[in-house]
Amino acid sequence: MTGLPTGLPVVTTASDLAAHLEPMRAGGGTVGFVPTMGALHDGHASLVDASVAATDATVVSIFVNPLQFGAGEDLDAYPRDLEADVARCAAHGATVVFAPTVDVMYPDGEPSEGGRILPGPVDMSLAGPLEGRERPTHFAGVAEVVARLFRIVGPCRAFFGQKDFQQLQVVRHLVAEMDLPVDVVGCPTVREPDGLARSSRNVYLTDDERAAAPVLYRTLQAAAASVAEPGWDRTAVEATMAAAISAEPTGHLDYAVVVDPATLHPPEAPQPGDELRLLVACRFGKARLIDNVGAVAG
Ligand code: PAF
Repeated sequence: MTGLPTGLPVVTTASDLAAHLEPMRAGGGTVGFVPTMGALHDGHASLVDASVAATDATVVSIFVNPLQFGAGEDLDAYPRDLEADVARCAAHGATVVFAPTVDVMYPDGEPSEGGRILPGPVDMSLAGPLEGRERPTHFAGVAEVVARLFRIVGPCRAFFGQKDFQQLQVVRHLVAEMDLPVDVVGCPTVREPDGLARSSRNVYLTDDERAAAPVLYRTLQAAAASVAEPGWDRTAVEATMAAAISAEPTGHLDYAVVVDPATLHPPEAPQPGDELRLLVACRFGKARLIDNVGAVAG
């Protein structure tokens, strides 16, 4: 256990974490868990708040998981500031920070196919489209580390942001598939006043890119209003979204889609009142930003 100035315990091993949680569990207390890769912002803080409000003890993990970064992605550049992160966790009432090393999470080295703890490959119907197309190994890496973290933390309510909507659905599927004693809670996206979703990657934006980036949320809101109209057409809505985002010269669109939230594939014969999810991904310079909103079909 390391002592950072806040007094909040920071543990690095599974056994130290268990030593913190076991007495509390023995007394009937519930555990909340907020998995993160650090570089904590108001979005993470809102997850900690949700956990603190709903459970008796909140674990925040801080681990930049190499397995979920592809070749050429920003693993080395990913922002890291443990001291500031711990201070933020303390200010929001977390109970303990779990900040393992790569050796603790992957004692046998970074696992290849055979060394994974997942019972099978990650479900590609959920992990394959959207982010999975751009980042083919990403969700296998997320699922592996999340499964390992759940095993270490034990029975808990786990709080994930809806900004990473596809990740949330992959994790929900993983929990059901592995029958884990984890209640997954999806929490609303936290935004800047101009609508930009909070993200650790926003620090990569130049001033011009930052000024342009709110186009994503504006476009999602306009599209949510369009799909609520009777007679809406998915292809036309997606084309309008793509055109609005592509009109920003600093942005390079990856996708702008309307999907069924349960499958992440185009909705089949949507009926009025059906829930939909609208998702976008766009590169602004070094930052690849994603965002999404829920909508109801008209
Ligand atoms: O959303 C994140 O920060 C990460 O993907 C997670 C869930 C902590 C796994 O590394």
